[in-house]
Amino acid sequence: MMQPALELVIAALEKIRETSDRAPRVSSNALAQLQSTYSVTTCLEEAGVSPTGPRLQQTASNKAQMLASVRERVCGCTKCAHLARSRTQTVFGVGNPDAEIMFIGEAPGADEDQQGEPFVGRAGQLLTKIIKAMGFAREEVYIANILKCRPDMPVGSFGNRAPTPAEMQTCRPYLVEQIDIIQPRVLVALGAVAVEGLLGARGTMRELRGRWHSYNGMPLMITYHPAYLLRNQLPSEKRKVWEDMMQVLERLEKPISEKQRNYFL
Ligand code: URA
Repeated sequence: MMQPALELVIAALEKIRETSDRAPRVSSNALAQLQSTYSVTTCLEEAGVSPTGPRLQQTASNKAQMLASVRERVCGCTKCAHLARSRTQTVFGVGNPDAEIMFIGEAPGADEDQQGEPFVGRAGQLLTKIIKAMGFAREEVYIANILKCRPDMPVGSFGNRAPTPAEMQTCRPYLVEQIDIIQPRVLVALGAVAVEGLLGARGTMRELRGRWHSYNGMPLMITYHPAYLLRNQLPSEKRKVWEDMMQVLERLEKPISEKQRNYFL
């Protein structure tokens, strides 16, 4: 009897999700009331609804399902027609749907475009080393980019280009959904472009890195992009990133060994 009304609500929520840069929200109370009458959680999750107020505990498998539904939309996305034409495939994100830490980069490069996974090229291998030095396996954290498509390059040219502000604005809602679903305890933005994509704020790494910022109430650490460390191999630069990562470990109340404390000194 209530089914058509419910479908209308879900269609309206889906419309909000498509047209705004945030997932639609519903209070935990309202969600609990709906749940007590009808089994609608899955439908609401499929509509990308995140509860407000005290957060409903989503299980890892719920989160995986919700991410899979966002991934499906990303796969078919043609909002940036030029990128949809030039990409080999979209690069959604990888890792634990229930991760405590989420790393955010700028955009896939050529290797990522080929393999469909973020941070698998040289910079990615360095990021994986950093994650391991922190005491995590790559599979334990979540890794995503602001852009899900490789920024296109003129035919015959090599290298990568930075995403444009318009491309970042268009793609950002997908990242917002990923963060809303995963609800990591700490976000780490890698480089100034990732910061601009996430916060919409431009700044130099000198002024941004090494201290806590906030995204939607979540602690956000800003550090150098691993590609910067490949270009600047000075131990002093590696140490800066490592100090930022130690702050992350401290925030997560993870033990830091003496050996870890002395890396790159
Ligand atoms: N650089 C990024 O910012 N993201 C990737 O996935 C690879 C390189």
